[in-house]
Amino acid sequence: MSVLLIAASPTQPSRSAALLDAAGQRLQARGARVERLQLRDLDPRALLLADTKHPDIAAAVAQVAAAQVVVVATPVYKAAYSGLLKVFLDLLAQSALQGKTVLPLATGGSPHHMLALDYALRPVLQSLAARHILPGIYASDAQITSTAQGAYTVGTDIAARLDDAVHTLITEALRPNSSGQSAGFAPVPFAQVRCSV
Ligand SMILES: Cc1cc2nc3c(=O)[nH]c(=O)nc-3n(C[C@H](O)[C@H](O)[C@H](O)COP(=O)(O)O)c2cc1C
Repeated sequence: MSVLLIAASPTQPSRSAALLDAAGQRLQARGARVERLQLRDLDPRALLLADTKHPDIAAAVAQVAAAQVVVVATPVYKAAYSGLLKVFLDLLAQSALQGKTVLPLATGGSPHHMLALDYALRPVLQSLAARHILPGIYASDAQITSTAQGAYTVGTDIAARLDDAVHTLITEALRPNSSGQSAGFAPVPFAQVRCSV
């Protein structure tokens, strides 16, 4: 199983990147091949002008194409996702996420914008033809704390939710069917649907 982690914060160090890396570590421990794409490292001009021939952009687009699973982590900016993520998603082909499973992650200064993943990012991922978009995980800044060394680390409640999400990803989204293809999720009865935040 190949996984691409997309870090979509323009800042460094980054809380959303810490959340992303915690997901990546769990996926790696379950045997996934994990690659990482840090959008802030891409050439800014090529990114803004959607120059898909630029080597940075071509390589990033190829990473997306090669992944079975995409985990994307963004800070909440102005009640939505980062502009950095928007310019990257805008330069992808319309079906760039076709056949892929996506796990969206976000961090925000307060819990008030916890639905930004669902009302802002999810429709965009859907428009890129993602096969499955898992329930997202939102962490407030208080849930991602700073260590003595200045790095960010996820709290125990968020760690438990990441464990659940990774388990779901591995056991459901990539469960093979009789023809050896991924069977995807079984339908969920409405009564069992629960809030994703
Ligand atoms: C330009 C900007 C806009 C922001 N807008 C919001 C917002 O609307 N709602 C919110 O909860 N946090 C907002 N924040 C706070 C960030 O989402 C939060 O600190 C996040 O964890 C930063 O993630 P990062 O360290 O990965 O960049 C904003 C921060 C910045 C810099």
